[in-house]
Amino acid sequence: MNKYFDESISRTNTYSYKWDARKKFFDSDEVLPMWVADMDFRSPEPVVNALINRAEHGVFGYSSTSNSHDEAIVNWLEQRHNWEVKKEWLTYSPGVMPTIGFLIACLTNPGDKIVLQSPVYYPFFDVINRSGRVIVDNALVLEDYTYEMDLEKLEKQLDSSVKMLLLCSPHNPVGRVWSRDELTRLGEICLKHNIIIVADEIHADLVFKQNKHIPMASISDELAQQTITCIAPSKTFNIAGLQASSAIISNPEIRLKFRKEINKYSLTMMNNFGLTASEASYKYGGEWLDQCLDYIYENHQFVKAFVEKNMPLIKVVQSEGTYLVWLDCRKLGMNGQELREFMLKEAKVALSDGFIFGETGDGFTRMNIGCPRALLVEGLERIHAAYHSTFG
Ligand SMILES: Cc1ncc(COP(=O)(O)O)c(C=O)c1O
Repeated sequence: MNKYFDESISRTNTYSYKWDARKKFFDSDEVLPMWVADMDFRSPEPVVNALINRAEHGVFGYSSTSNSHDEAIVNWLEQRHNWEVKKEWLTYSPGVMPTIGFLIACLTNPGDKIVLQSPVYYPFFDVINRSGRVIVDNALVLEDYTYEMDLEKLEKQLDSSVKMLLLCSPHNPVGRVWSRDELTRLGEICLKHNIIIVADEIHADLVFKQNKHIPMASISDELAQQTITCIAPSKTFNIAGLQASSAIISNPEIRLKFRKEINKYSLTMMNNFGLTASEASYKYGGEWLDQCLDYIYENHQFVKAFVEKNMPLIKVVQSEGTYLVWLDCRKLGMNGQELREFMLKEAKVALSDGFIFGETGDGFTRMNIGCPRALLVEGLERIHAAYHSTFG
């Protein structure tokens, strides 16, 4: 137990998407929100204090990034991920999803094919579809309650119109932290077929102790030249509402193309509070993060034990990181829509429907466990009560 993370902080009327948009999305203020991927924890104190100081200064003009901000990112990547990054490789964007959209626009053409690995963070589908590119789904394979990449199938799916691969590492929603071996084999295929890798590593810091996140671009110089890495302090330190993220691009040609693309929309400046929080997080947030990870891991173990004991028809997919738990509900015998209704109407819990993560997610649901234990217990008990009255 940890007092800091046990604290229940009301988020209603704070412009919170997860809490305040319940009425709009679920037509109810009663459902317990365990959907959108942010946490209900207070951010690290040094981050909160940096924001207070910034606010008290009282002048909020246009901002520019600073050497100390960039240094904070570079040092974090070296210390946490053993990855040496040069400051000039850093580029900025308000979010990882906008970055991916810009990369698709400047590095591929309409009609080109882009690989994703479903079930996967659903905006990956949208960003490819909306840009007029074509999805190639190299679906993950579930074996013994853990997911694997299907690289043999990937080789068969590739042709000369496949130009890019969106890698989710660690993977949302299935919680895999890809091993060096898996990433190396995937990287070799991409190098062989000249496929650009967009590595969405937004969950890189949210990895349980037994596992190690390997940045795709750190594997070899060749891969670094063909990989764009998207990172952000948003998930790690719970500051998603401040909208600051970076793309690390060591290939100078790709970097120039990306910068030109971002310039098209005059998106060259960052939010001042985002920069303030980002620098403070990377400089002083490490200790908080370690405690937060212990807490999330315990939450995960709690969910596993609770579900195994009380709801044997539901299986918890083995997770190696992230604060998202992927629940296999296929044995409940409901289709995706029925499962949604069951969770919302019977259990009164808002989860993320599995089918939005692709067809391969049908029959699954994603639970956000980045919350105080008491809220987690309440959510599980609500589901259990509904389960008990339906399945005994
Ligand atoms: C894998 C992944 N990528 C991107 C995002 C969103 O990033 P941003 O808010 O920076 O666009 C999320 C948020 O849940 C995510 O899980």
